[in-house]
Amino acid sequence: MAVNSVETIPVELGGRSYDVVVGEGLLDEIASLAAPFLKTYNNRPVPIVADTNAKRHHGARIEASLSSAGFEATWYDVTPGEASKSWESLEQLTDWLLNLGITRSDHIFALGGGVVGDLVGFASAILKRGCGFVQLPTTLLSQVDSSVGGKTAINTSAGKNMIGAFHQPSLVLADTTSLGSLPDREMRAGYAEVIKYGLLGDAEFFAWLEDNGADVLAREAEQLEYAIATSIRAKARIVAEDERETSGVRALLNLGHTFGHALEAETGFSDRLLHGEAVALGMVLAARYSARRGEMLGQDANRAAIAIGASGLPAEISDLALACDGQTLVDHMRHDKKMEGSGTLPFLLLKGLGEAYLARDVELNDVAKFLDEELA
Ligand code: GLY
Repeated sequence: MAVNSVETIPVELGGRSYDVVVGEGLLDEIASLAAPFLKTYNNRPVPIVADTNAKRHHGARIEASLSSAGFEATWYDVTPGEASKSWESLEQLTDWLLNLGITRSDHIFALGGGVVGDLVGFASAILKRGCGFVQLPTTLLSQVDSSVGGKTAINTSAGKNMIGAFHQPSLVLADTTSLGSLPDREMRAGYAEVIKYGLLGDAEFFAWLEDNGADVLAREAEQLEYAIATSIRAKARIVAEDERETSGVRALLNLGHTFGHALEAETGFSDRLLHGEAVALGMVLAARYSARRGEMLGQDANRAAIAIGASGLPAEISDLALACDGQTLVDHMRHDKKMEGSGTLPFLLLKGLGEAYLARDVELNDVAKFLDEELA
């Protein structure tokens, strides 16, 4: 397939700057698009760590492009699912890479969604004290969020993403063609993160999504590419401003995540509620809680809930039929990575559509009361 319209979005981080390329058919052109990162593989196969579903759908396209340029691929299969972000998987992957003789000037290629990207990113951060990696995200969620910005991690018994590093990729190729084979539910879960960019900082984009969201979800090429590129541009700006989440700017990306994390914990981080679905509902709750505090108009909180519900994402906590109260959900929040030593949990709230801010005066008891009302 020929590459149609392609957009290149720079992530400006001084010596760690890189491009995110968005467009159709990019994996068919990987040999030319990623040429600078293939140079070290003249006499050795190119290591590609792949989610097995992503490999099945896109492996042949990648191999065709690489072989046309005289390269050969060597594949490492990763079982889909969070369980692959474990110490054990990390050990097996790093052993495989060391056996291949990977050097610090090499780049590891990560094909798949957030699980593969996070695992390969972290392996690359620690392998020989750091080698390069290239993200080839194949899900909407990983294209608009996890593949950009250099957060890499594995899970432990203490929680998700508890062990990790900031390690930026050298290139991200977001091939929108790969979304054609993505199950609808996963597409919607990724779309939650797209809506997030509108809600947190771009009212115009939010309004555009209200009108065009159905086309994005139906994978209409023009609307899909616009939504992805706009999301990535927003993320690139935020990451460039606050790479390590120290100034509060990058924290805005956590809109919906504190409520969402509690819901994911209560549903056992299972398929019952995907991460993006939890974020979607979390954003509705953040909007309603902001309205309850008098910081956002009730009608704007309703618009957020309607846009989320209209895309088929959960917009009512009562729909989850949870057998718990608000206090139980707040107890999950106390284990959030963002919990501060002082006992405060900074909360992402909204002053309006497109205006998120970090509130440090949220009383968790008040959140529990609010959640009881929502659960009723
Ligand atoms: N996914 C949130 C961040 O990259 O900061």
